[in-house]
Amino acid sequence: MNRSRSRARIAILFSIGSTAASALGCEPVRAEPAARPARTEAPARPEAPPAHVRLAAPVPGKAPPHSYSEEQIRRGGSLVKFGSCNDCHTPWAINEQVGAPMPEMSRMLSGHPEGGPDPRGELGPGDLAVIGPTFTSFRMPFGVVYTPNLTPDIDTGTGSWSEEMFLGIFRKAKHLGGDGRPVLPPMPWPMVASLPDEDLVAIFAYLRSIPPIRNASPVAQPPAPVLEHVAAVNDRMLKLFASH
Ligand code: HEC
Repeated sequence: MNRSRSRARIAILFSIGSTAASALGCEPVRAEPAARPARTEAPARPEAPPAHVRLAAPVPGKAPPHSYSEEQIRRGGSLVKFGSCNDCHTPWAINEQVGAPMPEMSRMLSGHPEGGPDPRGELGPGDLAVIGPTFTSFRMPFGVVYTPNLTPDIDTGTGSWSEEMFLGIFRKAKHLGGDGRPVLPPMPWPMVASLPDEDLVAIFAYLRSIPPIRNASPVAQPPAPVLEHVAAVNDRMLKLFASH
């Protein structure tokens, strides 16, 4: 991987999918070679959201018991809220009160909805990602990546994960802290990895405490050479951050 590509990888620039952009009343960002004339007309009225963005009611799941303290859960909750985990792990829908799409908190942290829509737009030249209408699916140059369910449901979420696995995700940048596939972009794992172990445990404690939702998010299936490439990039990033 050349240096400019790895810089671009770190910068994580998103080209927001046209659906979300138009629903927000803004235009998709495009590289303009010449100066743009000033906009004089009023911004377009947000389009009605496509029917598929109206999410079905969440299905309650089943969480295992835990023995984390109130203090750990409170600390973990602050880190999750500040760390923008909801932006990508909670599906977005139109919030009637706000009049715009935002994370739908009745499905808090339950990941890309099972059967939910992929991004409809294609990548333009140089784009790194197009984000789907629920902000939980990301078309990357190598395929679509989906956010997993972080609620403590035993079958489809994090209820069967151990604390050790959770820490391993961030210390090794590998799926479930194992020795297999790397964690894929755009998961901002380096940001989370900058936290000390006790904060990672606090995040895990908080995730154990939230309402379990049954939702089997799809899993990205990039080809083997892409996985090898991302694994090598993640290793280099781990070394880079260790030296900071
Ligand atoms: C920019 C979007 C984005 C944000 C913000 C984000 N995530 Fe993720 N996350 C993802 C995506 C996409 C994946 C799936 C990556 C993959 O398939 O390897 C993921 C995967 C994960 C995983 C599973 C990793 C594994 O073992 O496969 C965990 C745990 C996780 N995120 C936790 C968090 C936490 C905690 C936060 C907040 C501090 C957070 N994420 C914020 C996009 C995001």
